[in-house]
Amino acid sequence: MKIAVIGGGSSYTPELIEGIILRATQIKADEIVLVDIEAGKEKLEIVGSLAKRMIKKSGLPITIELTFDRVKAITNADFVLTQFRVGGLDARASDERIPLKYDVIGQETVGPGGFAKALRTIPVILDICKEIEQYSNDAWLINFTNPAGIVTEAIHKYTSVKAIGLCNVPINMKQMTATILEVDRDNLNMSFAGLNHLVYATKVFVNGEDKMSTLIERIAEGRNMNMRNIHDVPWDKEFLQALNALPCPYHRYYYMMDEMLIEEKEAAELRGTRAEQVKIIEKGLFETYKNPNLDVKPKELEERGGSLYSEAAISLISSIVTNDHAIHTVNVPNNGTITDLPDNVVIEVSCTVNSEGPQPIQVGKLPPELNGLIQQIKAFEQLTIEAAVTGNKQKALLALTTNPFVPSSKVAKLLLDEILEVNQAYLPQFSMKALV
Ligand code: G6P
Repeated sequence: MKIAVIGGGSSYTPELIEGIILRATQIKADEIVLVDIEAGKEKLEIVGSLAKRMIKKSGLPITIELTFDRVKAITNADFVLTQFRVGGLDARASDERIPLKYDVIGQETVGPGGFAKALRTIPVILDICKEIEQYSNDAWLINFTNPAGIVTEAIHKYTSVKAIGLCNVPINMKQMTATILEVDRDNLNMSFAGLNHLVYATKVFVNGEDKMSTLIERIAEGRNMNMRNIHDVPWDKEFLQALNALPCPYHRYYYMMDEMLIEEKEAAELRGTRAEQVKIIEKGLFETYKNPNLDVKPKELEERGGSLYSEAAISLISSIVTNDHAIHTVNVPNNGTITDLPDNVVIEVSCTVNSEGPQPIQVGKLPPELNGLIQQIKAFEQLTIEAAVTGNKQKALLALTTNPFVPSSKVAKLLLDEILEVNQAYLPQFSMKALV
């Protein structure tokens, strides 16, 4: 059993290694290959050494290999995990800073920031997929690379790779719900439907009893649900009661755009954007990882927004390997699951998972209050993918103008010009067009 991790030098890798160790009896990994680009050599070596110490401590017969050779890593892999960031944290910082200049939300995965990240990432993931098609065509690709839903949709539209998009938001929503309702997470039955970073829990049951209204009441009373990387603007009780579904933490950007923008601008001024803060956190993390006596995932990693990532990833892999039909919320092609969306778009939805992969649990028609926003964002996502693949500026302009964060086509144009200019080095698909 070979697992290849693309972006293996990421500070999140110890989280993944811990997950592999904890589920060793189910997934039975023999070989983990961490691959990264040469510019990330130092990080790969530091993280790789820690990963080796963690495995040594576990006593498991797993080898860890570090390489810059992506094809070698991919060849004959059973699972390929993608967690890379094109342009690194500098590019993320510009994704967050540029929109703020125009009084638009600047976030790495949604809005114009997510759009820019998708333009940089999609060509790279499609190259990786070509290699998977050639060198390990039966491998499962588990994609964490953001914007995870958009990237996974591009893979399904343009390649034949068996890809599943994965995010830690649903598992965190479940964990937070369990904490708020004071029940064990395993006793909680929740249904999720929507898009990545735009997913709703539509049902919350404990021992057959509907607990949605209790949950909403407690959240509105201040037992808040949030993630480390998102500003903690409190939810409005009347709104949540009317919605009668649990929005994800990222929904704050849509439903409380005005307050979130104020928070973001203040934070950017005082402490820097999230990318700028993450740079500081990462520096400390890599210093910690260097300690030759460290052989466990350090507590400081919890400062990042990726909590429960490895649990989500490794339990998903385990369901595929053991054919256990467990329920996971993942990003998969719609194929009629949400009836008002096209078949070939990717949605985030509860699925039973067996050795054939995720089988979405039918959702049907969503009520208008959920469907409206989902339709708009899906249109933005489809246009973004088309722009990323073709380098067509008109599609790019339409994508940005369709996004609800962007107030006008005029602002969309200004944003687009600046995004294309700043990201030039990562967007050959657009510069090639300029030459024509
Ligand atoms: C959450 C999101 C991820 C995102 C992460 C960012 O976990 O679900 O998609 O990558 O936060 O965390 P960071 O520490 O990089 O801001």
